[in-house]
Amino acid sequence: MSPGPRLVVLDEADAVADHAAAHIVGKLAPKPDLVLGLPTGETPRGIYARLAGAYRTGEVSFARASSFNLDEYQGLPPDHPASYHAYMREMLFRYVDIDPARTHLPDGLASDATAEGRRYEKAIAEAGGIGLMVLGIGGNGHIGFNEPGSPFDSRTRAVRLTEATREANRRSFPEGETVPEFAITMGIATILEAREILLVATGPIKAEALAAALTGPETLRCPASVLRRHPAVTIVCDTAAAAGIRLRA
Ligand code: PGA
Repeated sequence: MSPGPRLVVLDEADAVADHAAAHIVGKLAPKPDLVLGLPTGETPRGIYARLAGAYRTGEVSFARASSFNLDEYQGLPPDHPASYHAYMREMLFRYVDIDPARTHLPDGLASDATAEGRRYEKAIAEAGGIGLMVLGIGGNGHIGFNEPGSPFDSRTRAVRLTEATREANRRSFPEGETVPEFAITMGIATILEAREILLVATGPIKAEALAAALTGPETLRCPASVLRRHPAVTIVCDTAAAAGIRLRA
């Protein structure tokens, strides 16, 4: 039996970003060819800013690292401002020495999403698998774009986004543009194969999902609940996101 996720609760979002970035640097510095799994969204912004800072000060180099992002919207070209390709360039890649050839995201424009899923899985395997997977959590318990109901044995594939997810992500889209209905995401099985997982969550909007993930039943209704199966998960969150865990404990 694995001891279950290690939970680190800190006062506020800035402290979560500090801790998460230090965790990543602590893994990458001694293993410069680390394969990272990377998230997008609001939560990781502070982490990426700190990683860029750690590179600037010479604390860490990404020159031999590789990265695989969790997901990308279907139908968005890589230069669309709300695409995750653009997000990663703007938040991290342009500020560090990572080789663009070793940064990977699903191709949202692939005409055959099934083939694209297979290609992505193969690329992860050829890189030696993901060493450290960094994850956020959706207000509905999703990990990557694996929405509630996603099979635990799922692999990289096209998925339909829930209305709740599209609404939560609307803020990243230019006024008047609709959020895509579909995305390509790593599957839950893909995520679970990472050797280590670091999940970050901040704010009251994550409290219910985090409590369900940690203290509710392991269920498809809360995809993040599957993380309890993994032997090396660290969850770093602020007190607001942890509030539901205390209530239930
Ligand atoms: P957020 O997204 O960081 O923008 O809240 C997290 C997620 O949906 O996984």
